[in-house]
Amino acid sequence: MFKKTKIAGIGFYVPQNVVKNDDLKEVIDTTDEWIQERTGIKERRYVQRFKENTTTMAVEASKIAIERAGISANDIDFIIFATLSPDYFFPGCGVLLQRELGIKNNCGALDIRNQCSAFVYGLSVADQFIKTGMYKNILLVGSETHSAGLDFSTRGRNVSVIFGDGAGAVVLQPTEKQNQGILSTHLHSEGLHAEKLAFLHLGGHSGVFTGDQTDFQSSGKWGSLFVTQEMIDNGTAFPIMDGPFVFKNAVVRFPQVIMEALDANNKKLSDINMLIPHQANLRIAQFIQEKLGLSENQVYNNIQKYGNTTAASVPIALCEAWELGKIKDGDLVCLAAFGSGFTWGSALIEW
Ligand code: COA
Repeated sequence: MFKKTKIAGIGFYVPQNVVKNDDLKEVIDTTDEWIQERTGIKERRYVQRFKENTTTMAVEASKIAIERAGISANDIDFIIFATLSPDYFFPGCGVLLQRELGIKNNCGALDIRNQCSAFVYGLSVADQFIKTGMYKNILLVGSETHSAGLDFSTRGRNVSVIFGDGAGAVVLQPTEKQNQGILSTHLHSEGLHAEKLAFLHLGGHSGVFTGDQTDFQSSGKWGSLFVTQEMIDNGTAFPIMDGPFVFKNAVVRFPQVIMEALDANNKKLSDINMLIPHQANLRIAQFIQEKLGLSENQVYNNIQKYGNTTAASVPIALCEAWELGKIKDGDLVCLAAFGSGFTWGSALIEW
């Protein structure tokens, strides 16, 4: 019998620390009205500094997903960790997650760097391993600590108001049931626009060095391994984004890749029970919904509460929609994402 991949367990974790738009106003030259009008975001979560990080959030989300899958951590036979904000430059968070979950079976751990579309990319990778029979319990996690690496000066306000911290996790298993499992994944990239939404210098999350590191620095845009005070002062130590350009590309690529998923499976827009778009910006999600003629009930958004959590946004939204009873067995669920790279992708799943 032909094997497909099902989501056997799902969980998410967001820090307790709620940061409202008005809280940001205390440090950034911005307003609640500006943020809500342009992005739909009302609040986001930030980790408790030095107590929580990308790995600890992933652990919490994973524990829920593992329990809901009805397995124990040691049953996990492969880990895929998606993040652009790892706790160390290396090793990746995958092995840290393995250690913190107490997985003792020496399973493989793969870290992927596909920013906002990383969860969909990770799902596609996991799907291939499950379908071929290579693995039976894959833990896929998206987790991000943005609050540690944002520019809270006026210079960086277009980026910093958008992003939040959080983690989402799924356990993937084979299924032979009809009307269940991943039908397809489609992945794309366009490196031409790599610098339109990027962090150009390495090491931003691994600490700030303020000493003399001229020997280590290169002069070009590829940067050095360390972040210097000079880089903080001139703004090159932070993510950069050409917001309007990203917006214009996102509203083209999202509908394209959603239609690609439907066409590949002979499905129509009306067949979609739930679309979970990457929570980039509420205006982008609303634009897609309108362009595709989808109803309010066919799309789930929660960026209002969590901001854009990059690799974690799709699994957080998927999990919350499922917990709210908005996704039921047999439903056709479409995941779609677009982000830095540019990279974008979709997955069509029968729940
Ligand atoms: N608060 C107040 N004003 C702000 C601000 C903030 N947080 N950020 C930017 N501004 C100002 C700018 O300085 C600019 O002022 P000016 O007209 O005096 O020069 C003005 O607002 C407009 O800036 P602009 O960047 O053109 O705004 P925008 O209407 O394009 O909205 C985004 C900015 C970022 C909200 C919007 O471009 C966007 O959502 N893009 C997509 C981003 C995204 O989804 N990224 C994630 C992809 S995965």
